[in-house]
Amino acid sequence: MVADAHSRDGIEDPAARMLQSWDRNASAWTDAVRAGKIASRRAGTDAAVVAAVLRERPRRVIDVGCGEGWLARTLSSHGCEVVGIDASSALIESARARGGGVFETMTYADLARRASELGAPFDVAVCNFSLLEADLSPALQSVHALLRAGGKMIVQTVHPWTVNGDARYADGWRMETFASFGGSFAEPMPWYFRTLSSWTQAIGDGGFSIDRCEEPVDAELGVPLSLLITAIRIASDR
Ligand SMILES: C[S@@+](CC[C@H](N)C(=O)[O-])C[C@H]1O[C@@H](n2cnc3c(N)ncnc32)[C@H](O)[C@@H]1O
Repeated sequence: MVADAHSRDGIEDPAARMLQSWDRNASAWTDAVRAGKIASRRAGTDAAVVAAVLRERPRRVIDVGCGEGWLARTLSSHGCEVVGIDASSALIESARARGGGVFETMTYADLARRASELGAPFDVAVCNFSLLEADLSPALQSVHALLRAGGKMIVQTVHPWTVNGDARYADGWRMETFASFGGSFAEPMPWYFRTLSSWTQAIGDGGFSIDRCEEPVDAELGVPLSLLITAIRIASDR
């Protein structure tokens, strides 16, 4: 699964390549999520992120990088008003077809500019396996602008310990081939591996204070399934 993301197919910018991969893989991804093909999600990460959001008793939630919209639909069924955004228009079409929220195509960099159109401020912003770039500052600045004072950002991501494998424990671009998900993924996805200290640094630099850090564990294997961080928006004039 780990490979160099910089030099394949003539696309040098791994972040651009990552975004493009989601559009090209939209139907395989939608099928993988909806058919329950992702073992870690069945084993606990879906339930963990839903519980983390509902613990905040939010009225309005923004699902940042919502994909085909499963989380927005689940939170709506619990009474939340949810807006989902994603850069992939194909995934947003999939999400709209099932409903359960308002879904818009846009990148994280565009979010802050479109805050009032989206209905900001929100009580909670949730990023479920959707912060995949090396530079998180545009995404975190946007999330900060969308949240009410004291609002929460909830980030679920791969656990740095379990996904590191034999690689050097250091930030850097890696490649997801989706081999373990089955289905017909058209292309691999570059994503940025971050150490635990890099996550905490980026979240702090983005104007948030970490409130809670959870590690849902696979009951059978006894290994962490993910890293789940709840952070409070700190006023920007701090
Ligand atoms: C692993 S999928 C997760 C989707 C969804 N959150 C879920 O739980 O199924 C990552 C999603 O993040 C989106 N994404 C990543 N970076 C983005 C960016 N800069 N702007 C908008 N969407 C982005 C991708 O298009 C993709 O749909």
